[in-house]
Amino acid sequence: MVQATPFLVVLFLALVAPGLAVKKVHADFSPLQCILTGEWKNDLGSNMTIYDIKENGNFSGMYLTAVAATKREILASPLRGSQHLPNQQNQSTFGFTVHWSFTNTTSVFTGQCFVGENGKEILKTMWLLRSYVDKMEDDWKATLVGYNIFERLESR
Ligand code: BTN
Repeated sequence: MVQATPFLVVLFLALVAPGLAVKKVHADFSPLQCILTGEWKNDLGSNMTIYDIKENGNFSGMYLTAVAATKREILASPLRGSQHLPNQQNQSTFGFTVHWSFTNTTSVFTGQCFVGENGKEILKTMWLLRSYVDKMEDDWKATLVGYNIFERLESR
């Protein structure tokens, strides 16, 4: 029995300790992460502010794009969307529409909030930008598609 004790200790450390370490890493993530509320900047330099998330996941905000398809002056434009409430990984999906104030186009974004290994939140999104066309025959060329990645500007 005396000889078996060191063996049992080593066996315990080998089998149980790694599991404990993994649990600790996950516990370090704040449960508040991946709530969309706050200020974000994307890879094009566009800025987005999202106001409080309502209980049902709905939200509104403002979008200031850094680029535009028109030569008109760019204005901050309202957005409206909805987020699934954070799940156990705090990495919920969301979508929102931007109603551009300075032109007659509309954008929709859909994406997911991820928490990187450094604990930083990243929004991975895809978007559609619908342009206005005069006639139905031009419908085929009216929609652009792309990706944007957003990072939080300031910590909450
Ligand atoms: C327009 O030019 O018709 C309105 C502005 C569109 C800006 C687009 S939306 C997708 C992409 N991501 C951005 O941050 N800006 C562009």
